[in-house]
Amino acid sequence: SSNQMWGGRFASGPAAIMEEINASIGFDKKLYAQDIRGSIAHATMLAHQGIISADDKDKIVHGLNTILSEIESGQFVFSRKLEDIHMNVEARLAELIGAAAGRLHTARSRNDQVALDFRLWVKEELQKVEVSLTSLIAAFLDRAEEHADTVMPGFTHLQTAQPVTFGHHCMAYVEMFGRDRQRVRHAIEHMDESPIGAAALAGTGFAIDRHMTAKALGFREPTRNSIDTVSDRDFALEFLSIASICATHLSRLAEEIVIWSTPQFGFVRLSDAFSTGSSIMPQKKNPDAAELVRAKTGRINGSLIALLTVMKGLPLAYSKDMQEDKEQVFDAAESLELAIAAMTGMIGDLTVRTDRMKAAAGSGYSTATDLADWLVREAGLPFREAHHVTGRAVALAEQKGCDLAELSLEDLQSINPAITAGIFDVLTVEASVASRKSFGGTAPSEVKKQIAWWRARN
Ligand code: ARG
Repeated sequence: SSNQMWGGRFASGPAAIMEEINASIGFDKKLYAQDIRGSIAHATMLAHQGIISADDKDKIVHGLNTILSEIESGQFVFSRKLEDIHMNVEARLAELIGAAAGRLHTARSRNDQVALDFRLWVKEELQKVEVSLTSLIAAFLDRAEEHADTVMPGFTHLQTAQPVTFGHHCMAYVEMFGRDRQRVRHAIEHMDESPIGAAALAGTGFAIDRHMTAKALGFREPTRNSIDTVSDRDFALEFLSIASICATHLSRLAEEIVIWSTPQFGFVRLSDAFSTGSSIMPQKKNPDAAELVRAKTGRINGSLIALLTVMKGLPLAYSKDMQEDKEQVFDAAESLELAIAAMTGMIGDLTVRTDRMKAAAGSGYSTATDLADWLVREAGLPFREAHHVTGRAVALAEQKGCDLAELSLEDLQSINPAITAGIFDVLTVEASVASRKSFGGTAPSEVKKQIAWWRARN
C-alpha cells in the first residue's frame, strides 16, 4: 500500500530495503517532546493568524498532549513504516482526532520541523553540559584549595621540569573546562534562532507569524533565511566540536590519572568506587573509568568527523543525508555526559599522596632553574652562563649520585667560586614553588588568587 502522507502520487509502497534504509524512527524518537512542543506552538500560531480554526487548534493541542503521555507511559506504538518521529506523531494524531489532524502541517514541512526539533534538543543538551561542567569545575576547586601548598613535579616531555603545586595543576584543568563552558554558552547564543516557518525551503504563502512561534519556543528570534534554515546543521557541528575539545581535555586528564595511579608514580590512589580489580592478579587496582573516558574521546571525535563529512558535499537546501546528523550527536552527547560525570566522581574521590608527590618533586634536579636564577640574581651572571654553570653542577651531582641540595659548598664553589651558602635556601622544592609569584605562577599565594577568581565565577 502507498504512504498515507504522500500516497497521491504513488502507486506502490517502498521496497523492504528502502523502508529499512529510509527509516529514522529507531533513533529520532528521542525528539518526541521537542516535536510535540513545536507542533503545539505551530498550531497555536496558525489559529492566532486565522489560518486554522480555534476549534481545530484545540483538538490538535489536546491530541498532541495525549500522544505525549502515551509516549511517556510507554503505550505508544512506533512504526517503521511511518519513517520518523514527525510522521509517527501526525499519524497517531489523525487516529485520535480525525480530519483536524490534517491541518497541522499547513505552512510547514518536515524540513523546518526536523531543524526545529533537533535544534531544541541540542540547545537543551548544551544546557545540561553547562551544568555538568560547573560540577566538574567545583570538584577541582575543592581539590585545588585543599592542595594549594602540595608540591609535585611539573613536567615537560613527561620529564621532571620544575616543582609546582598540585593545586596549580588542578587549576590548569579549571581553566580548560572553564573555556569549554564558555564555548557552550556561546553556542547556545549562536543557535538561539527558530527554524519553524522556513517550510520546505522557500517560506510559505500563508500569513504565518514566525516571531510568535520563536517566542513561544524560547528562541531569541526567528532565523532570517529560509534556505539556510533547512540546510544548516552548524548547531550540531558546533555541539560536536565543543564536545570534541572538551573530551580532549578529559582525555588528557584521564591519561594523567592513569599515569599517576601506577605504583611507579604513586601520586594518587583511586577510590574503590572508580576502579576495578583483576580476575587473575589479586594485587591489581585498575583505572578503568579513566581509561574509558580516554576512549570515549575517540568516539566523540569520530562523530564530529562523521557529520562534517556528511555535510561537506551537500548542495542547498535539504538532502536526506542530513538525517544522519542525529545519531552522531546523540552518541556524542551520551558519551560526553558520562565522561564528565565519571571524571567529576574520580576527582572528588581520589586520594592525593602528598609524600610521594613531594619526593618526586625533589628528584630529577627539578630545582636546577632555581640555582641558575640565583647565580643571575646574587652573582650577577648572565643567564646563559648561569645555565652552563648549573649544567655542570647537575653533571657533578649525577656523577656523585646525589641531589643538587646534597652537593657540598666546596663542590659548588669548584664549579663557580661566586657561589655562597645562601644557594641552599633556593634548592628546596618549597622555596622554589614559593618564589614563583609572577601572575598566574605556581606560588601558593598566586594559586589561591586563581581559586578566588574562579570561585566568584562558578
Ligand atoms: N527524518 C528526516 C530527517 O531526519 C526528516 C526530514 C525529512 N524531509 C524530507 N524532505 N524527506 O532529516
